[in-house]
Amino acid sequence: MTIVFRLRSLDQDCFEIRYAAGVLRKGGLVAFPTETVYGLGALVWDEKAVERVFQVKGRPSDNPLIVHVFSVEMVEKVAARIPEDAYKLMEKAWPGPLTIVLPRGKSVPRSVTAGLDTVAVRMPSHPVALSLIRETGDPVAAPSANPSGKPSPTSGRHVVRDLMGKIEVILDAGETLYGVESTVVNITTDPPTLLRPGAITVEDVERILGRKILVPEFAKGLGHAEKPLAPGMKYRHYAPEAKLILVEAPSYDQECLKSLADYVKTKALSKGNGKLCLLATLETLQYYLGSGFETFILGSRGNLFEIAKNLFTLLRKVDEEQCTIVVAEGFPDMGLGLTIMNRLRKAASEKILVNC
Ligand code: TXA
Ligand code: MG
Repeated sequence: MTIVFRLRSLDQDCFEIRYAAGVLRKGGLVAFPTETVYGLGALVWDEKAVERVFQVKGRPSDNPLIVHVFSVEMVEKVAARIPEDAYKLMEKAWPGPLTIVLPRGKSVPRSVTAGLDTVAVRMPSHPVALSLIRETGDPVAAPSANPSGKPSPTSGRHVVRDLMGKIEVILDAGETLYGVESTVVNITTDPPTLLRPGAITVEDVERILGRKILVPEFAKGLGHAEKPLAPGMKYRHYAPEAKLILVEAPSYDQECLKSLADYVKTKALSKGNGKLCLLATLETLQYYLGSGFETFILGSRGNLFEIAKNLFTLLRKVDEEQCTIVVAEGFPDMGLGLTIMNRLRKAASEKILVNC
């Protein structure tokens, strides 16, 4: 049986949090909101509970989990060593959407790190997540609370739909702030390596560290080799049931946007049967009016924060609306655009580069 607690006010000492922490301590699973996406938590030391997280998600056992902490003392419990770079990042970016990969402490079960000698650690900023971990008194291992391969849950409603009956508690605090997962940076390499672009930009991380980090080819765009560094990034991900076709352009200026939109329409038309849908932006909406395609607006190109926040919600929405084919527009590979493109490319079954 799953108990769903709807948390309207974020009273951090509330009964619901104490109850959920008790469930974690006894080996149960709790889905909880973070500022990025919802997580599916287990007490980090409890191998059986961690095992169940993998089962419930249908997650391959070679894909490690992020350990969520409330304090630097908790980091010390799970990391063998905390290098200088980690302190810089923790001071400036925590609590927040940055995951730091550190040398693994011996007490962390191998199942959590999928046998790696590193451990990924993050201090979320959502008050419910923070008070849950504090109340539990120990770190909480948690992947995103979606069945493996599907878009991550950005609202309690998504989690209820996916995990009802499969876990003990769902803490539903409505929508998350960023709607896209944390940035994952490995600081055990020199220079540090970006393993997953996320809600904090590479530029922000570099500013904090005062130096460039390695941004592997897989994040850099169409035509580059796709070599996954974080184990999780090798799987097709974030995909709706509908077939997603991603249309990219070499630039996204006014002229290119017009060519992009023309191509998106042509591509959708060529698909014939089924329900054809478009993932578009405010700037291109004018080109689709009257086309007859169901068009979902991610937001304005001038506000990538908004686009990132709406992305997973709309990737779920296209399935709710029973679209069979979705043609999506691309974004520049910079700042949050890199994160958005990483998710879109992983969700897409076909990628096209238009000329303009
Ligand atoms: O925003 C987030 O990060 C959310 C919330 C719940 O915190 N969590 C999340 O977890 O997205 P998950 O499991 O969906 O993604 C974790 C990513 C995967 O790509 C995984 O391979 C990578 O982090 N990862 C975890 N531990 C790692 C390690 N030791 N070395 C390299 N990559 C690691
Ligand atoms: Mg995930």
